[in-house]
Amino acid sequence: MEYFEVHGGIPLKGDVNVSGAKNAAFPILSAALLIKGKMRFYNLPKILDILSFLEVLKDLGVDVQEEKDYFIIDTSKDISLKISSKEYYNLRGTQTLLGALVGRNGEANLPSLGGCNIGTRPIDLHIKGIKSLGVDIGWEGGYLRAKVKDTLKGNLVYLDFPSVGATENLIIAATLASGETVIENAAKEPEIKDLARFLNLAGANIEMNGSGVIKINGVKNLHPVDYKIIPDRIESSTYLIAGIMTKGDIVLKNCNPWDFESVIMKLREAGAEITANGNEVRGEYKEKLHSVNIKTLPFPGFPTDVQPQMMALLSTAQGTGVIIETIFENRFRAAEELIKMGANIRIEGNTSVITGVKKLEGGNVTAPDLRGGAALLIASLSSEGKSKIFEPFHIDRGYENIIKKIIGLGGVIERRNIA
Ligand code: EPZ
Repeated sequence: MEYFEVHGGIPLKGDVNVSGAKNAAFPILSAALLIKGKMRFYNLPKILDILSFLEVLKDLGVDVQEEKDYFIIDTSKDISLKISSKEYYNLRGTQTLLGALVGRNGEANLPSLGGCNIGTRPIDLHIKGIKSLGVDIGWEGGYLRAKVKDTLKGNLVYLDFPSVGATENLIIAATLASGETVIENAAKEPEIKDLARFLNLAGANIEMNGSGVIKINGVKNLHPVDYKIIPDRIESSTYLIAGIMTKGDIVLKNCNPWDFESVIMKLREAGAEITANGNEVRGEYKEKLHSVNIKTLPFPGFPTDVQPQMMALLSTAQGTGVIIETIFENRFRAAEELIKMGANIRIEGNTSVITGVKKLEGGNVTAPDLRGGAALLIASLSSEGKSKIFEPFHIDRGYENIIKKIIGLGGVIERRNIA
């Protein structure tokens, strides 16, 4: 059984290069199916989730070639109507294949989705939105079956919740539809802007001014483009918190500070010194951190994907902090593992109350999901003594070269196996 062995208590110092954004790569690689031809994608993170997603694309008929600094994706061949790759079942990011296959083939047959167990994660908004574009869609025999009735037609779609995945699916499906689609109460995450930018470079006509209204005027076809994925704002935030919580001094390279402004502001409020300079952000520990309150919200609010990492940081901050998680109903799973390390955390529904303790003790913990695993890694790096983090594959799903990057910052971590 695999685990990360971490020797904590060492301040992380130095530079860390931020990788491409997993949650931008998923919708952009799906949207590439709307285009026939060869394209180069730069800054694709070589993490479990993306490598699995590329296997799914290969299974659908896409040619994938890995080069040193980019991947060549060739979507010229016919794209299969059926998903048979087992990799599909581990992912949530495959959700955007719905819009892509409807846009490319006029139909899709998708098994139910995988991904982190952080809530029920329904896709009712995806289904309602795609249906309004003239598509027969519904669950049948464990598959989500979608088929364009006569033509894919633009429409006005209101999202009850600014769902990231539903917004992405609608943008992708509407790109080649006839007429205009307007999405109201759309998500505004940076990954969605990146998707719109990629499609517009390929000849789409998408207007997104950050107001929560997105206009897509359908076009006849798109042309192949080479594209560089934006940096990962969640990875950026995770390393920044790790640097601060270990009382260190780190510099993020090749990041987009404006994409994680809310995290930077909260860390400053907690007493850290954060300076942004172009595509670099420096995070320095200056004094004992004090507690802050967090409420997760859709972008530009505080990101739910950084909530577990902040729970770790608050575990040893001075005072009591309150976290209200408004996005997912089961996203405090790291708490019980942090408590094993000495944290003082109380959970009441979607609210957690974290009373800072002097320090955490290294321990044997298990990663519950991707960001919960990242939180435990941060906690073990900052605690005294040795920790073992079991089921590290959760962490590998979203953090490229994490062992190498932490060692590069002076951390002591090793991937080991219990025979
Ligand atoms: C994306 O998930 C991200 N995943 C998540 O990151 C991220 O936490 C989330 O957006 C919110 O920012 C990917 O991009 C692959 P949502 P998604 O649809 O699209 C409810 C990570 O750690 N909802 O915005 O699934 C849903 O239940 C992952 O990298 C409906 O009710 O998020 C949830 O409560 C975790 N009906 C809320 O909306 C729907 O049809 C947000 O979901 C769709 C969503």
